[in-house]
Parts: sequence; C-alpha cells; structure tokens
Amino acid sequence: MADEKKMTGEVYHPAPEVVANAHITDYDKVNDQATKDLAGFWGKIASENFEWYQPWEKVLDDSNAPFYKWFVGAKTNIVHNALDRHVRSANRNKAALIFEGEQGDRRTYTYQQLNHEVCKFASVLRSMGVGKGDRVTIYMGRVPELMIAMLACAKVGAMHSVVYGGFSTEALLDRIEDSKSKILITCDGAWLRGNIIELKKIANDAVDRAGTIQSVICVKRTGQDVEMVPGRDYWYHDLMTLPVVDPNAPTEVMDAEDPLFILYTSGTTGKPKAILHTHGGYMVWTATTLKWVFDLKREDVWWCAADPGWITGHSYIVYAPLVLGITSFMYEGAPTHPYPDRWWSLVARYGISVLYTAPTAIRGLMRFGESWPNKHDLSSLRLLGSVGEPINPEAWKWYYRVIGKEKCPIMDTWWQTETGGFMITPLPCVPLKPGSATRAFPGVVVDVVDEEGEPVGVNEEGYLVIKTPWPGMLRTIFGDPDRFVQQYWSRYEEQGWYLPGDSARKDEDGYIWVIGRIDDVIKVSGYRLGTAEIESALVSHPAVAEAAVIGLPDEVKGNIIKAFCILRQGYEGSSKLEQELRDHVGKEMGPIAKPASVAIVDSLPKTRSGKIMRRVLKAQEMGQDVGDLSTLAD
Ligand code: WTA
Repeated sequence: MADEKKMTGEVYHPAPEVVANAHITDYDKVNDQATKDLAGFWGKIASENFEWYQPWEKVLDDSNAPFYKWFVGAKTNIVHNALDRHVRSANRNKAALIFEGEQGDRRTYTYQQLNHEVCKFASVLRSMGVGKGDRVTIYMGRVPELMIAMLACAKVGAMHSVVYGGFSTEALLDRIEDSKSKILITCDGAWLRGNIIELKKIANDAVDRAGTIQSVICVKRTGQDVEMVPGRDYWYHDLMTLPVVDPNAPTEVMDAEDPLFILYTSGTTGKPKAILHTHGGYMVWTATTLKWVFDLKREDVWWCAADPGWITGHSYIVYAPLVLGITSFMYEGAPTHPYPDRWWSLVARYGISVLYTAPTAIRGLMRFGESWPNKHDLSSLRLLGSVGEPINPEAWKWYYRVIGKEKCPIMDTWWQTETGGFMITPLPCVPLKPGSATRAFPGVVVDVVDEEGEPVGVNEEGYLVIKTPWPGMLRTIFGDPDRFVQQYWSRYEEQGWYLPGDSARKDEDGYIWVIGRIDDVIKVSGYRLGTAEIESALVSHPAVAEAAVIGLPDEVKGNIIKAFCILRQGYEGSSKLEQELRDHVGKEMGPIAKPASVAIVDSLPKTRSGKIMRRVLKAQEMGQDVGDLSTLAD
C-alpha cells in the first residue's frame, strides 16, 4: 500500500480482502462527494435505500439554523422501513431478533413475528388513546418487549421516552414529569447477575408521585408478586388478548420531521434534557452509518451489547438493524453471569459476526484473562466495535488480539445521544490507530479549535467542533428550544458550529483523538451522568447541606465518582454516614450513580458568583496544579 509509510505512530492497515468486500472501499472519494454536495449526496442515499409515502421538496433546509430540517415535506414512518416493507419481501421469514435471557431462556422473532407483536401492541396503545405527539415513558429491562414497545410507539406516532432500567425512582420521576407522559410501560422485574431488579416497585413509587400517568402497562418477566393498582395498572399479556388487538394495525403516516422519540441525557448544568430525534433524518443517518461502518451484509449476525435504554441501543439495537433488514442478537444480563465467558459462549452459539461494545466492558473482561475467551470458537467474528469513551490502547490491543484474532478491524466510533449515530469513526477501508476514532464520517466536517475558533496546532488539545449539519442531528431539546441553542450553538454562534462538549487533538495524519468531556458530565462505565443530578440526590438526604461530585480516573470503569459534602448543623461526619450517603444516591438515582467515596468537608471551592469549581477539587485529588484561581471566592 502506497501510503503505509507516510503515517505516523502505530498503524494497523486493513487487510486487502476486508477492503475489497466492503461497502465503501475509498474513504477519500466518498468523503469528497459528500462534502462537495451534501444535500445531493444524502438525497440520493435517502431515495435509493428507504421507502417514503411522499418524496421531499427539499433535502436540507438551513434557513432557520440551528433549527435545521431534513427531507422537508416528505412523509414516512421509520417503522414502515423497519418492519412493514420487510414483511412484504423475502425478508419476512428472516430472524429479526435473537434473544437470550440471563437465565438461559431463548426466543427468536422473524420479521413477520416481530411485526405481528408490534401491530398488536400498537392497537393496544391506540385503544388507550395514544397517538401522534403523545409521550410514553418506557422503563424496562433488556427484553424483546422493550423493542416491541418502542416500535409500537413509533408506529402510532407517539414519542417514546425510554428510561434506563438501571436508574431509580428520582431519575424516573424527573423524566416522567418533564415529558408529561400519560402512559408508563414497565416490567415486574429484570434479571441481573442472578438477582431481580424490582422495576415495578420503583415504577410504583415514581408513578404515585407523578401527576401525569394515567395507565401503567406491566410485562411479566421475573414472576415475583408485584403490586398492581386496579384501574391504573394492566398486564401486557392480558391487553394483548383483548378484542381490540389488530395484528394488521396500520402505520401512522408521519412527516419526515415529526418527532420519533425523546431521550434524556446529562448536560452542563441542571436537570437532564430531552434530546429530540425525528422519523426521516434519524432513519437515514443511523441505517447508513451502521451499514458503512460495520459493513453489514445479509448474512451477518449483529450484536450491539449496549442497553436499549441509551442512545446506542436506540440507534443500533432497535432502529438501524431493522431498517437494514439484518439479524440482531440481544442478551439480557451481565457479561460475567454465571461465569466470565458468558459473552464468548454467546458469540460461539449464535455465530455472531460483528460485536459492538464499550471499552469498560472490554477492560472488565480482560481482568479475567485469556483463558475464558480461548475456551470458545470465536471464528465467526469479522468486525469489532467500541463506543462510549476513549479506548485505551492496551484494551484495544487485547480486544484485537484475543477476541478478534488479529483479523477483525476495530471500529472505534465517537458520537453522542445528540448526534443520533456515528460521527467520527473508521470505515473498514481506513487504517487504524489504537485509541483514535480516526476520521469523520463522510460529509461530516470536524475540527479541533481554540476559544476563538482558530484551529489549534497538530497534537494540541482544543475543543472538538462539528462544522456541517447531518441528517441524524438532534432537532431540539423537547420543551426547551432556548437551551438547545444555548448549549450547543452559542459558543461558535458566528461560525454556526455545533459544540459537542468534548476536548480532542488532531495528529499529523488528521486523525482525531478524543480526550474527554469539557463540562460537568462524568462517564462511568460509559454511562453518561451529570454532576448536577448526583449532587441533587445527595442534598435530598437530610444530613447534606451542599454537595459537589467529580470524576476520578479508574482502570475498569473509565471514571468513578467522588462526592464532597458539607453537612447540615447537628450532623457529624462518620464512616457510617458516608456509607449511608453512597447508598442514598444508589437508591435515588440508581446503582451506576453511586459515589465510590464520599468526603465530608467544611467548605467547597467556589467562584465569586457561587459556582462550584469542580476542576479545583479534581486537581487537588489528583495531586495536580490547581491552575488559575483568580475567580475563586476565597
Ligand atoms: C463520549 C454515547 C471517545 C464522548 C454514544 C461523548 C467517546 C459522549 C466515544 C457521549 C469514543 C462516546 N471515543 N469518547 N469512541 N464515544 N464518547 O451521549 O465524551 O451517552 O461526548 O453517547 O461519550 O455520550 P452519550
């Protein structure tokens, strides 16, 4: 290869046969086409690969930026593309979803069968008065009914708001209230590490306090006794046998720009915000990015090991794989249950060909050594993926060597809830550098700049920016368009650039190395948490007057949370209280938000305007220079 010598650092060149068989064989050529005529490029892809009830008048409307519109005037429904069209084709009897529960139960749904369930559940929702524009909160474990519920909402034109099943009462309550959902769909429980997570119990606590929920639908999964409130709560399996269910329920005709879902995520300040995605642009973006980056073909078995409750699961477990008509695998439980080879046994059993997971999972499994994966036949794998945080080169190499047997390229995909799908990522034809997400997806223009928007020097740290619109971009923050503009588009208002909130550097070859968040977001095991939400859980404890939390580096989880608390008068610090505060956050917010440690302090460093300076706390903890203290109050 001609350019092999020219690149700097450690480079893994793709095998010629990988490139030859890929959907995209020449990155530069496709990227050129896309950047020269963005609207033409996406218009062609959208018309050739998707079905529309009515075509668009305009591919991209940027007249009211940053409120961009894509496929303006077109009519479609993502469910029409994910299910309806496959049921009419030879795909009908193909497996859409293969599922294995933690307890070992197995289920397969063909496209026909999945569509049947979605139609039935869509008619149940319609009979409850759910339709276009309504919000439905979904709080479930990782089971096929979660996917059915999401698709049924989309089919009737309602927006789902999925709350991750690892969250607890406060987090669920906030999200129900902010979205003003009328319906909550949940499970009796979820299996995790052989234990039951009591989802219905948590849901009851939240619904009792939330004013908006009229009906609760509960899927029976774990089978323990749960409290069902007469007149409010219904079993899913009872509803699915009612005379109203229609296995041929029609799909609602939606405008391309109509909302598909909202998904809450943490931002710079305050409560989590509801990121809004649409039927048209999100569909085109997620399906195309998945097809090109993971090079998916008809015969692949795709396993995205994320949770459907996060954007990775929305885009790459539920929507994109179905739109592409491929077979997905979903596993309910923990990677180490009952033994640390559970995942590898699944790869062998189901012949998984492409596996997509997070660095934290890889590091967690690495700890158990090579003998566990080596017990299984992993030869079906042909591509691997990573998402959620920067992958350290050591984990990358282990994944490459021990799991991929040095033949599977690793797609390190950088993206966000807000971007809908992959933004900076290799394609199978792009040479890889362990730890770098490489280059922008075709048509996306990214850069690393300083405060003024000037590009920083080679390998210097700066702000990551995205300079061009893309079909899968968030359209707004539901209910708060001002915050949408403020949070993402105000720093580089003049230039019209999107600010993701990450810092990065660009190397000699133009490769992007994402460093981390520049705001008050902490990534714990790849999960995105906001300091504000954890702090507010802490101050909801009677002993706490004020709290600040920071992320500290951790070998497996990426980051762990450390909390600093000022106590109210009459309370005294003790290790018992510290433990109680950790448990309190776990109970209010969910186990992932539980601080690894709590320090009781007399004061917190603040700016003169009263903002807590978390970076000072962090620098102190890490024994680093605390930097510029000119804004510190005392
Ligand atoms: C981080 C997850 C480095 C980043 C899809 C981003 C990454 C945030 C990568 C979004 C990656 C995600 N390399 N960092 N490959 N992927 N991130 O919204 O900080 O849960 O801003 O979306 O995760 O997290 P979110």
